[in-house]
Formats: sequence, C-alpha cells, structure tokens
Amino acid sequence: MEIKKVGVVGCGIMGSGITEVCARAGYQVVVREVNDELLKKGLDRIKESMSKAVSRGKLTQAEMDAAWARIKGTTSMEDFADCDLVIEAVVENLELKKQVFSELDRITPPHAILASNTSSLCITAMAAVTKRPDKVLGLHFFNPVPIMPLLEMVTTILTSEETVEIARKFGESLGKTIVVAKDSPGFIVNALLIPFLLDAVRMVESGYATKEDIDTAIKLGLNHPMGPLTLLDLVGLDTTLYIADAMYEELKDPRYVAPPLLRRMVLAGKLGRKSGEGFYKYS
Ligand SMILES: NC(=O)c1ccc[n+]([C@@H]2O[C@H](COP(=O)([O-])OP(=O)(O)OC[C@H]3O[C@@H](n4cnc5c(N)ncnc54)[C@H](O)[C@@H]3O)[C@@H](O)[C@H]2O)c1
Repeated sequence: MEIKKVGVVGCGIMGSGITEVCARAGYQVVVREVNDELLKKGLDRIKESMSKAVSRGKLTQAEMDAAWARIKGTTSMEDFADCDLVIEAVVENLELKKQVFSELDRITPPHAILASNTSSLCITAMAAVTKRPDKVLGLHFFNPVPIMPLLEMVTTILTSEETVEIARKFGESLGKTIVVAKDSPGFIVNALLIPFLLDAVRMVESGYATKEDIDTAIKLGLNHPMGPLTLLDLVGLDTTLYIADAMYEELKDPRYVAPPLLRRMVLAGKLGRKSGEGFYKYS
C-alpha cells in the first residue's frame, strides 16, 4: 500500500508541524480543526514556519508554494474519507482520542492506517475502539516537527508487521530517524524526560535555585540546547501536565506526580509560548 494522502486531526503546535513536514515531503495533506478560527491560526502557523525556513535558506520559495498548495484545511471529519494514513494530534486526553479514532474508523477507507501522536497515552486503548487494531500505531513526532529529526514509532501487541513497515517507510520519507518503542506510558523519550521536567519545576517551587540558573546549569553543564524551564514553555505547560497526570494515573509512580506550581500555572493560563507566558514572557 502506497501512502499518497495524509490526514491530520488537530492543527495546534504538533498538528501544524506534522502537516508541514508531510506537505514538504510531497504528500497531499488534509488537516482538520474544530472551528474556522483555530484552523486559520494553525494554517498561519504553518505559513510562518515555512517562511522562516525560506529566509534561512532551508527551503526555496517555489518549494514552499508547492507544499502550501498540497495542504487543505477543513473543519469536517468527512474530508478524511480518501486518506491512506491519518495522524491524530488533538489534545492529550484519552476519551477525546478514543472518540476521534472511532470516527476515523467509520470514515476512512478500510486500508487506511490510523496513528496517534500522543506523548504518553495508551495506543492499545485507541486501537480497541476500531475494527482495524492491526492498522493502529503511535507516530510520536517531536517539537518543532520540521526541525527535530526523531520519530518514535509505537507498536502495540495488535499492530501488524505490514503496518509497521509501511509506517517506517513513511517516516523515513519525511527524513526522520525512527526508533521503535512499546506501548508503555511515555514510550522512550517522555518516560525519561517528564520526571526531569517535573523536578525542575519542583526546584523553582522550593526556591532551590532561580529559573534562569536552572536553565543555564543544564545548558552549559549538560550541553542541552535549552534548559528544562525553557523547554516546558516550548512544549506547553498544559500538555506537560496532561502527560504527567496520564503517566501517574497508569503507573502510580511518584516521579510522575505534577508539582502544585505546574497545575496552578496551567489554571492561571500560563501555558508557555503558545499563551505568551509560562516560566518566561514572550512577545
Ligand atoms: N507540544 C509538544 O511538544 C508535543 C510533542 C509531542 C507530542 N505531543 C502530543 O501531540 C498532541 C497535540 O499536542 P499539541 O502540543 O499540538 O497541543 P495543542 O493544544 O497545541 O493543539 C491541539 C489542537 O487539537 C485541536 N482539537 C481538539 N479536538 C479536536 C478534534 N476533535 N478535531 C480536530 N482538532 C481538535 C484543538 O483545537 C487544538 O488546536 C498531544 O497528544 C500531545 O501530547 C505534543
């Protein structure tokens, strides 16, 4: 089975990035948001990201125009009816994702592969609401998608070899390096990253060190490209909280307990870059 048309559900931080890389790799892409306003915001984010790539010499204007022409925005799920692969990138909530998978199973052709970009939630639970669990897997991209080279492929005990091979070829066609993880909470990267991020918040909360010093220490002491609090702002504090809660819910491991400060910042609307303020302010 050859993938020609890709569907993306959600055009937030991740959905917009996934749409961009697929269109740049030559796929026809249809991306769905819940309303016109959020769709416009997501499409504008894609345009801005590609324009930046052009100004940095990573993409020509002609390539950008061609990729842009391959993207279709929609607010209707029915537009996924002729997709060969659909990647779900809605908010990190299992009930919502199960609802999306059930709808995708009804709408997409029987050969279509259904993938989730979840950071931590159970792929098997999403597969179980479909009549094609052998064609369901996780395709976990990293933020910002056009720049980060890794793709975690998450297989369940029900995912077929054929699905894995098609998905692997697809991931490679996007220029990504693939690692395979089992369907366990957080897969490889977030199982290690989330306790680290939560510990950084606990350090700020307890007054252990300033946020600037924590970030500088990790950047210069461990050679990370950015410190954990800057990374939290990039990922989204809400998304990090959902991931931590989901991992704690399943594992009951205290390393995944969200610190009160993180929960309160989310309640206060300080979500990071996407809301203009998190641990730092963004103009
Ligand atoms: N932010 C990151 O760094 C990151 C990295 C890897 C994976 N993820 C995962 O990607 C997923 C999306 O995260 P995000 O950071 O893009 O969140 P986000 O809040 O930026 O975007 C989510 C979008 O989904 C939309 N949405 C909700 N229900 C929908 C539906 N039924 N149909 C279409 N759109 C719908 C929302 O309107 C919103 O725009 C989550 O599962 C998250 O865990 C996030």
